[in-house]
Formats: sequence, C-alpha cells, structure tokens
Amino acid sequence: METCRAHCLILPFPIQGHINPMLQFAKRLQHEGTKITFATTKSLFKTVNEVSGSISVKAISDGYDEGANGIAPEIYLLKFQKVGSETLTELILKLQDLGRPVDCIIYDAFLPWCLDVAKDLGVRAGVFFTQSCAVNNIYYHVHKGLLKLPLEATEVDIPGLPPLLASDLPSFVSNPGPYPATSQLVVHDQMEKIEEADWIFFNTFYKLEEKVNDWMATILPVKTIGPTIPSMYLDKRLEDDKQYGLNLFKPMTNACVSWLNERSINSVVYVAFGSLAELDVVQMEELSWGLRTSNYHFLWVVRESELKMLPKDFVKETFDKGLIISWCPQPEVLAHKSIGCFITHCGWNSTLEALSLGVPMIAMPQWTDQSTNAKFVKDIWKMGIKAQPDENGIVRRDAIGQCLITVMEGEIGQEIRKNAKKWKDLARQALEEGGSSDENTKDFVSKLIQS
Ligand code: UDX
Repeated sequence: METCRAHCLILPFPIQGHINPMLQFAKRLQHEGTKITFATTKSLFKTVNEVSGSISVKAISDGYDEGANGIAPEIYLLKFQKVGSETLTELILKLQDLGRPVDCIIYDAFLPWCLDVAKDLGVRAGVFFTQSCAVNNIYYHVHKGLLKLPLEATEVDIPGLPPLLASDLPSFVSNPGPYPATSQLVVHDQMEKIEEADWIFFNTFYKLEEKVNDWMATILPVKTIGPTIPSMYLDKRLEDDKQYGLNLFKPMTNACVSWLNERSINSVVYVAFGSLAELDVVQMEELSWGLRTSNYHFLWVVRESELKMLPKDFVKETFDKGLIISWCPQPEVLAHKSIGCFITHCGWNSTLEALSLGVPMIAMPQWTDQSTNAKFVKDIWKMGIKAQPDENGIVRRDAIGQCLITVMEGEIGQEIRKNAKKWKDLARQALEEGGSSDENTKDFVSKLIQS
C-alpha cells in the first residue's frame, strides 16, 4: 500500500470483449505503481473462474444479481444506470472509509453515467474506448451530426479515414434499425460527454492508426494505450502475464494446446467469433462444410450455447482433422506455431491479437464495429482477406474453401506473413519503455499523482 502512488477504480461493461482490454490496462497501471480496484457486476463476480494476480476485484450491482439473460437491452441499460450509480457510489465511499480513497474512475465508454458519479463525488474520471480509433471517429461524426443517418451516399468521406463504403461502416451506422437501444448506446451515449472526461483512452496504438489518431488529436486529447494484449506476447515487461485472467467461459487449455502440439507449423486453421456473435444456422452449416472439405486441420471455438447448431454428427465425422472446443486461451492459441490462419469475426480484441501475434486473418464480420475492422485488416494493414457473403449475407462453403487456399498457400498469404512482422514489431515498440502507449500510460499516472 505505502508504495502505491494513486488509486484507480476501473469499471468495464460486463462482457468479455470489454473486460479483457480494461483488465490489461489495469495491469499496466499497477505496474506503474498505481493501486487498482477492478469492479464488475455481482452476477459476474459469482461466475468468474479466476482473476489475475494481485488485482483487487470488487462487485457493484447492475440490478440483476442473478444474471440478466433474456432482459431487453433498453431495460437492462436503464436499470444498470440507476442501480449501478448507487452501488458504485457506495463502493467508492466504502473504499474511502477503509482508508483507500479513489483518485480516478476509469470507466467504459458504454457506461457514460460513471462520469456523473465521479463528478458528484469529486473524483477525476477517464473514459476508456474498447473500439478502434477509426470506429470512434465514425461514431463521433454521426453523434455530432457531421455524418447524417440514414446514409445518403454509398461511399462516405470522413477526415482521417480512407473512403468507406456503407458496407465498411459499423452496423449501427449502416443499418441502425434492428437494435435501437444498442445503437443509441454505441453511437451516441458513448460520445455524449466525451469532452467532459479528464482523460480519454483508446485501445489502439499510434502507428497502427496514425492518420486517424492525428485527426482525432486535433479535436480531443485522446491517449492511445494499446494493444492491451497480455504482455508476454509483446514487451514481456509484466511478469507472468500470459492470460487475460478473468474468464466468463471456462477455457479448455490442455485439450487444445496438446492437440496443437501434434500439428506441424502453420498448418491449422483457427476459427472463433468472440464472445457474443451467434452465427445463423445456415452459416454454421456452410462453415462446417467449408472446413470439412478443406485440406487443413482446424480448431473451432463453438460456445456451448451454439453447439446445437452444428450439423448432426459433424464432431464425430471430422474427429481426425478438427477439434471443437467451447472456449480457449485465444492469445496462447494464436501464438502457437501450428496456427496458419484465423477465421475471425474481427472483434477489435481478436483483430489486435492477430495483428500483434502475426496471424493472417480471413474476415467474416458479423455486426457492430467488425466490418470496419475487416476493411482495415484487408486494405490498410494488409493482414488478411475478407470472405465475401452472398446476396443473403451468408459466406458459402466454396468461398470459405477458396479463402483458405489463398491465405494458407497463395502468394497473398505469403505477403500477409511478410507484413505480419512489421505490425508485430510496431505493436511491441508501442508498449516497450519509451513507446507511444507506454509514454501515454506513464503521463497519465504522473498527472494523476501531481494533481
Ligand atoms: C466485442 C466486439 O465484437 C468488439 O468488436 C468490441 O470492440 C469489443 O466487444 P467480442 O465480440 O467478444 O467483443 O470479440 P472480441 O473483441 O474479439 O473479444 C473477444 C475476446 O475473447 C478476445 O480477447 C479473445 O482473445 C477472447 N477469446 C475468444 C478467448 O479468450 N477465447 C475464445 O475461445 C474466444
């Protein structure tokens, strides 16, 4: 305690894709001598399998302490705001009473009401964005009315970004209709009070998104602090930091690592769509056949809730070439020498992990920010290709088979592997002593302790 220079309370939205990056940032801040309290909801607190090292985890309530399955987003978000504001306030006051006053709340941009809690208590606040800088810029433009919805043109020009087709934009921008509450949260609420936060953190690194970072920096004091992947895969400065450490799903680590150990270099196709996306049953079938008829071994993460969508007997019939698991330690898998490519939904964490670990991607974006990430993977970073869906939005088995050959055996695959080294090096440099993300993190800590 005596050696800690300031105390940050960190609160992510309670989903895996937001917990992982904010927990990694917490570890970096702890490494810089800051005391951390990592907060999550009571329902998650009960189910987590493990929590990393010495970080203290405390629970607040989102109003659904037994879980919020089946609750409509608009109801959940309102309740979380009400009960979350009260219980976050209680937690901060309790920590103060215990002699551990909070100096700064670092809150997920999906929880903008945390800023009001911080202001009411006279605590400083930093907002953390889990998406790319490009995506944040697009939402900023929509929120400020600089990009009007519904879109009036098939191609849009936004400062700092390449020309983007409607299909390259986040789904909440190209097609906001189906999920009104989530669209409101993601496109507008995230950006609502961005100027009032004391700090703005983006989970990206300067060189990856140089142009758009430069543009955003002309309007907002943004700090890039990523990529927030476990340190052992890049700069190795955080001791034993090989896993994220707060799993909402139980990883089948031994089963998949021993299976991968049996495979030759660059021979395995890794398939995963993150923690939220649920493939349509036709898409599952097409993907199953694409993998089954290809020449490659595959490791496919099919979460328990989706197993019923696999074609009958698929697991049994592909036993000799594929392994289906319900969850894995993804960075460890991507870093394994046997992995030849990654069929991914291009969630931002998965994208950063593949870029940082040099794994070629076959992009199959599903919704939210993933189409934009896929566009950058293919055309800007040249770290993958995109599997083209048909007119019904389904990527057919032949298209999957063709993409696999292109990436695993074709010239494009070789070029991607060459590019991979560049991004891996730049990602590591950003986090190393004196790198852009390291400097931004240190600058935050030093300002926090000075003021
Ligand atoms: C979501 C959005 O899709 C993403 O774009 C947004 O920016 C953050 O929230 P999610 O869909 O779950 O997240 O995808 P992703 O961002 O890729 O995060 C998934 C995380 O789960 C990754 O860190 C990945 O390493 C991890 N994971 C996934 C595992 O550890 N094991 C698995 O088997 C699958």
